[in-house]
Amino acid sequence: MKGIILAGGKATRLRPLTSITSKQLLPVYNKPMIYYPLMTLLQAGIKDILIIISPEYAGHFLQLLGSGKKFGTKFTYEIQEEPKGLADAFIIGEDFIDNDSVAMILGDNIFTDNLSADIKSFKSGGRIFAIEVPDPERYGVVDFDQSGKALSIEEKPKHPKSNYCVTGLYVYDNSVVEIAKNLKPSDRGEIEITDINKFYLEKGELDVKILHNDWFDAGTFDSLLDASNLVAKNQHLWEEFGS
Ligand code: G1P
Repeated sequence: MKGIILAGGKATRLRPLTSITSKQLLPVYNKPMIYYPLMTLLQAGIKDILIIISPEYAGHFLQLLGSGKKFGTKFTYEIQEEPKGLADAFIIGEDFIDNDSVAMILGDNIFTDNLSADIKSFKSGGRIFAIEVPDPERYGVVDFDQSGKALSIEEKPKHPKSNYCVTGLYVYDNSVVEIAKNLKPSDRGEIEITDINKFYLEKGELDVKILHNDWFDAGTFDSLLDASNLVAKNQHLWEEFGS
């Protein structure tokens, strides 16, 4: 399985912090944000990782992460010229993914669950990870029937059908590349990962796992602060991870 970390975008919501570097390089307690999603992939034994970055601060990523050798992995970099949506990662990453399956994680998502077993046991279709949140309208939202089977997925619905938000880790089989290439942009002009998930769901091939521990999308000032506090309190989760 290949890994992708999507760390593009302009993160205008975090200005002026992001006027000097990329959101995914900002500190979350004692490490740059991108270390946490990277750790999620490394824990799952993924040894070949594509990092998708925006052109402005590409050099900062190289300086911090280098070849990947110090993490026992290999990094490949691609530039995303314009943010076109999360699903664009599979188009940019087509050659890199080649004939493999892929785990894609957002560079601002911090998981405190160890998802190694759930990533390693993946065989085919799609697997996503959901968690109950107080503000589901900010996210992709999945709802379930009484047996826990996923019924629908909607991107930032005004009237969410559940409190379960779809987090930024997505594991797909190789057909994701073709699915992504056939997507039509949404009203916000992006090709949506939610449409990929809907595609798998409609085929009966989407597996939704529920997270048990804290998760953060550290893309706002408040969530950045909350993530830093959480990381400070749970240092043991990341202690094996070097500097
Ligand atoms: C994106 C996805 C959304 C998902 C979220 C997780 O939202 O579109 O479905 O719930 O990431 O972080 P965005 O960060 O583009 O607002």
